[in-house]
Amino acid sequence: MKTNIAVLGAQWGDEGKGKIVDLLTPHFAAVARYQGGHNAGHTVYVDGTKFVLHLILPYHRELDVLSEARRGERKIGTTSRGIGPAYEDKIGRRGIRVCDLVDAPALADEVRENVSARNRMIRDSTLDWKPVYDQLLAFGERMRRWTGDVSLALDEAGRNGQRVLIEGAQGAMLDIDHGTYPFVTSSNATIGGACTGLGIPPSAINGVLGVAKAYLTRVGEGPLPTELFGEMGNRLRESGQEYGASTGRPRRCGWYDAVAVRYAVRINGIDALALTKLDVLDGLEKIDICTGYTVGSRTITDFPSDLNTIGAITPVYESWPGWSAPTKGVRDYASLPAQAQRYIKRLEEVSGVPVGIVSTGSDRAETIVRQDNVVGRWLQ
Ligand code: IMP
Repeated sequence: MKTNIAVLGAQWGDEGKGKIVDLLTPHFAAVARYQGGHNAGHTVYVDGTKFVLHLILPYHRELDVLSEARRGERKIGTTSRGIGPAYEDKIGRRGIRVCDLVDAPALADEVRENVSARNRMIRDSTLDWKPVYDQLLAFGERMRRWTGDVSLALDEAGRNGQRVLIEGAQGAMLDIDHGTYPFVTSSNATIGGACTGLGIPPSAINGVLGVAKAYLTRVGEGPLPTELFGEMGNRLRESGQEYGASTGRPRRCGWYDAVAVRYAVRINGIDALALTKLDVLDGLEKIDICTGYTVGSRTITDFPSDLNTIGAITPVYESWPGWSAPTKGVRDYASLPAQAQRYIKRLEEVSGVPVGIVSTGSDRAETIVRQDNVVGRWLQ
């Protein structure tokens, strides 16, 4: 069956996409990541050797740190990996592309121009373009074998009947156009980014799996309507080990926000959810779900598009009973405690899509894949 599936974040990133992609990978011939950089922490182990992936140029990182310092209290809380400045170079039509790395004269011109522009932007900066150029040229040589036209390769895969797993980074609420701007990343984490990032048509995407935690986290600044302060926030942070993968920063924690997930479902065309970290809720007496917001005397059920309204909202919660028997490591749906099944059913109702996968631990085996809905059909 030629079914390409996109996996993307339905919240503010860190939903556990990596585990879901890892789990689904055996069903696909290729995995194609469509946006972002190493703001999404990527560490890969191959035959026992650890590889930490890096993508951007050293001066992008410096510019990122500088730009955050300039914003002061209005800072975004970026990962300091240079993502914003790298995307600025792309949109400013001065970005260095992979194909330039194997074209020495073109690369020399581009690096010289970029470095001198950067030296003008950073006071007292005298960065020499030559070492940057030498390093990039060496990278180009090493990468030459693996460099090519991704759009063409994916088209060929499709014509050969091969399935492609389309992988997003960050999450819908961090999307540059549809997230909580300006507290967002600099790329399109939502589904449109898959077409522009990979050079594939919308018709090549046959299904969209949104990944959402059974609660909610966010790193960095910006609105998080259901944020929990105090004891409950700490409880979720500690049991969920909620510290940023690439920066180690403590994540802000909150209850599941169905308004935000419904928004992600609408703009991405999400068909089903993979619900992660259910086991983190084990042992809680009650669990809240945000189903709407109030603004003054009004109740709203759609995620507002402007920061002023977001700043004025109060979440409306439903309370559900927790469960005492552990869900940790449970591998089939029927073995989940009745209250956990009820909680998931309610999340499906308020989110508007079925839950096809439930993750009950960090190990690949600690997962429930439900055969009775669309996800089961995708993986047949
Ligand atoms: P940047 O992508 O480093 O520019 O950071 C912009 C915003 O996106 C900040 O709030 C970051 O914390 C957030 N962000 C970027 N990448 C990730 C991620 O992989 N997971 C969660 N948050 C992220």
